[in-house]
Amino acid sequence: MVTIKTLQNIKAANEKIVALTAYDASFSSILDQAGVEVILVGDSLGMVIHGGASTLPVTIDDMVYHARAVAKASNNALIMVDMPFMSYCTVEQALNNAARLMKEAGAHVVKLEGTSNQIEIVRLLVANGVPVCAHLGLRPQFVHKLGGYRVQGRDEAMAKEIIADALALEAAGADIILLECVPSKLAKEITATVNTPVIGIGAGVDCDGQVLVLYDMLGITPGKRPRFSKDFLAEADKPSVSQAVLDYVDAVKTGTFPASEHSFK
Ligand code: KIV
Repeated sequence: MVTIKTLQNIKAANEKIVALTAYDASFSSILDQAGVEVILVGDSLGMVIHGGASTLPVTIDDMVYHARAVAKASNNALIMVDMPFMSYCTVEQALNNAARLMKEAGAHVVKLEGTSNQIEIVRLLVANGVPVCAHLGLRPQFVHKLGGYRVQGRDEAMAKEIIADALALEAAGADIILLECVPSKLAKEITATVNTPVIGIGAGVDCDGQVLVLYDMLGITPGKRPRFSKDFLAEADKPSVSQAVLDYVDAVKTGTFPASEHSFK
């Protein structure tokens, strides 16, 4: 079974961690069998499953419901589950909701969109046996505060802030850092600076691992596919969901995905 230690070993060996989202048992089983090491039950489900305009309406009950199905169907992968918007505002609320994700749904790691403002929350979750992934860069739960889904850290001040947040969250005990939509150069620097495994999405090829939204990489998300994603189903030699996932695993492991056209300067 994949554990936090497995991810640390992959980083230490200079190899790549493969992560993908899933929201139900059938896809979870396909990902698990294809060798995806981290299955993320992302709050992106609010958009790709529920049809919302953002992730903000997603509730902790939604996350428990989907994560339980995903965890049941996976034998090997590390199951990482998002704490949804406004479910970790206080230490007490964060502890109660993380406990639900672990006890009722079978999460192995919880993910929260954190900066140094969430240090105390991360510290207490970790102290109580809850592994934490800190999601930095573009944080979709902050879309209204950030003024849209934009690349973060292009200017020097913001880049320094993201580096400082990554170090502070690592010091607080975060087990994984996830970087979304930051310039490749910044992601490379953070990955080299922290000991914690860094998983990127729209963050260039130099992160310790990659994650994509499953429906984007299968080309079934309505609307325009994000620039940082790739339609692995359309490009598979033998088009099937399993083959698309296997091709993604191979592309991440061999460093051929993401290419420069999926990355930001
Ligand atoms: O919710 C999600 O799927 C995510 C990924 C975009 C990393 O957080």
